[in-house]
Formats: sequence, C-alpha cells, structure tokens
Amino acid sequence: CLLELTTEKNTSEKGRATIIFSLKNEVGGLVKALKLFQENHVNLVHIESRKSKRQNSEFEIFVDCDSNSGQLNEIIQLLRNHVNVVDMEPPDNSYLDKCANRVLMYGSELDADHPGFKDNVYRKRRKFFADLAMSYKHGDPIPSIEFTEEEVKTWGVVYRELNKLYPTHACREYLKNLPLLSKYCECREDNIPQLEDVSRFLKERTGFTIRPVAGYLSPRDFLAGLAFRVFHCTQYVRHSSDPLYTPEPDTCHELLGHVPLLAEPSFAQFSQEIGLASLGASDESVQKLATCYFFTVEFGLCKQEGQLRAYGAGLLSSISELKVKIIPFDPKITCNQECIITTFQDVYFVSNSFEEAKVKMREFAKTIKRPFSVRYNPYTQSVDVLKDTTSINSVVEELRHELDIVGDALNRLNKQLGV
Ligand SMILES: [Fe+2]
Repeated sequence: CLLELTTEKNTSEKGRATIIFSLKNEVGGLVKALKLFQENHVNLVHIESRKSKRQNSEFEIFVDCDSNSGQLNEIIQLLRNHVNVVDMEPPDNSYLDKCANRVLMYGSELDADHPGFKDNVYRKRRKFFADLAMSYKHGDPIPSIEFTEEEVKTWGVVYRELNKLYPTHACREYLKNLPLLSKYCECREDNIPQLEDVSRFLKERTGFTIRPVAGYLSPRDFLAGLAFRVFHCTQYVRHSSDPLYTPEPDTCHELLGHVPLLAEPSFAQFSQEIGLASLGASDESVQKLATCYFFTVEFGLCKQEGQLRAYGAGLLSSISELKVKIIPFDPKITCNQECIITTFQDVYFVSNSFEEAKVKMREFAKTIKRPFSVRYNPYTQSVDVLKDTTSINSVVEELRHELDIVGDALNRLNKQLGV
C-alpha cells in the first residue's frame, strides 16, 4: 500500500461537501449557522432554502461548500447547537476516484537519496506508471503491464530470497494463501503477476479489489479505500541497483507482502474495519487509526504454536532479520507509537491472532468521536451512513431476515438429526 504517515506533507487540496440542515425556531438562526462556516474559513459555493421533506412546516437550508473532512466534522459538531437536522451526502464509490488522485507525492518525483534518482530511464518508467494510475477510473480493468527483462529480474531476486524465509517466519494464513497466488495469478520467480488478475482473485476470496495508485495517499484517503474493501497498490518495480532494498512500497511489497493475507477472510475483515472506523473521524483519530494500521497490517506479529510469526506486509517483504523489542498489541498504546518509514521500528506489536486484534480494534473504534455510524453494504459495495431511525431500521430489517435464514437452517438441521 501507499500510506503516507506524516501529516506535514498533507495536501491542502479541498473536496466539495454538501450539508443540509433545518433551523431551530430562534431569531437569527440562519445568520448564526452561516457565521460558523465563515469562522472556520469554509468557502460556501452554493446555498439555497427549500421546503423540508421531513417536516412540512419547516424549511431546510442546503449548503454546498469547499472543505476538507476535518473541517467538516468540526462544523457539523458546532452546527448541532443551532440547527435541528444535519445531513451529509454519504460517501460512495466515486469517492475512491477522488481519493486515488489526491496523491501527496507523484511517482516520478524521487528524493535525492532514492536509488533511482540519477537514472533517467527509471524516472521515465515511473512516470509511465504514475500516469497510468492517475487516469484509472473505478470499475475499469487494471491495465496489463509488459514488464521489462530488468524488472522481472529484480522481482525474481526478491521472490527467491523471500521464499527461503517464509516457511520459518510467515504466519500460517500467509503460507496457506501464497501458493494460491501462484496457481491463480501466475505468481512465479520469472513472472510478475498482473494486478487485474490479482484483483479478480481477491474479489472471489474476500471481496477485496485492487486499485492502482500513483503515489503516497494521505492516511484518510488510504483508509477510506479499505472501508470499501479497496486496496491501493503500486504497479512499479523498485530500482534494479539494490533488489533487496526499497525506500517506498513497490509492486513486490504489495504482491508478496499484502495480497496473500488480503485473501484471508478474517484479515480482510480486520483491514476493512480500520477503514470503516476512519470515515468521518477527526484528523487526530485518523492518525491514530493509521498508526494502528502501520503496526498491524504493515509490521504486525502474531504467536502461532508458541512461535512469533509475521503477518505485517512490511516484514513479509523484507529480508532483514528481526532482533527487536516486542510487546502485546493494544490500540490505545500502539496508536501513540512513532512510525519509522525507512529503517527498522523501535518496537513491534504482537497479537495472539487476527481475531484478537480485531476485537481490540473494534473496542478502540468505539471510542472515536464522529457524527454518525457507518456500515458496509456488501450488496451495493458502498457505505451506508446510519444517522437516523430510517437508516437504522433498514439495518434491523436486514438483520431480522438474516436471523430468519439462520433459524430456518437450524430447523432443517434439527429435523435431519431427528431432534
Ligand atoms: Fe504496505
């Protein structure tokens, strides 16, 4: 994945949002509400009033504004003191196109200490991959890449060296799924799998899909992708001068680090839940979730048969051995740990299982303040915002139906067993 963990680089690019509210019966209510936008430096693009759909006697104010999600949350909290109803347009799949194009560092802009900095052919190739990702739209097939001989050779070294370490270092779920990648996506020492094949494979296994990305995304945008079971992936290969080192994630890291575990239902669910918790959360909470993501999905360890095994993609795609401080994973503590991008971490966190990590993350997610709850709708592959009795009732209806199915299945089983 390409998740940028420092906030300073965060883009100032703003998104468009729509807020709908109805006024309380107080003098100057509209002026007070609009003043909040002004005080928070949010530019109003369009404003109109209309008869309320909910209450015939009321008028609703419909506001279109330029804003980032952090500001928006703040305004919604403040607005609640002055208005009756606050409604936000819920995020949908087109949100992913907006997210993926808000890259913080474009793929061809390499730092001076990058191994490919002085290699113009490499930089040109990186620009090709960046342009390809930028023009990608949700639902398109991911373009197939004809990898160069040099790229396949680099991949081959990484593949060969890592495969020597997996039997003794990778967790059992990883070892179970890695051969499937070879079987269904032609993942071999002499062949780099195509992201489209990998995306189709993951979709069948866990409903996750891959989306190509040009460069680093902000934590908010990256985590938002996970909420939709979309994983942002790079498609370029690291520089050939040092196949066993890369200062940033490349397709070797994505394919050998992330994909085998995204094919595991319990792990896919764990990843998505971090994403769902981030929707509508404050910048500070998103940073904490991103840090938990970093120390689990990227650098997480678990215990299996009394031994430490890696499930973090950063570890599974790295050759170096670990001799470090290891403490139990606890989101309340982990979320404050410093993330180190280019060298080893000061500390690693270990969970007994994904299930245990998931339960802990769920509890942590409940402590995050936000104006609504969200639920992933697998039928429409979108996120439902649960903000009023109508939306909550529709979930209850669905749950009732699911319980009916379970009840029916149990009855049949009982009959078969003669109970
Ligand atoms: Fe990653």
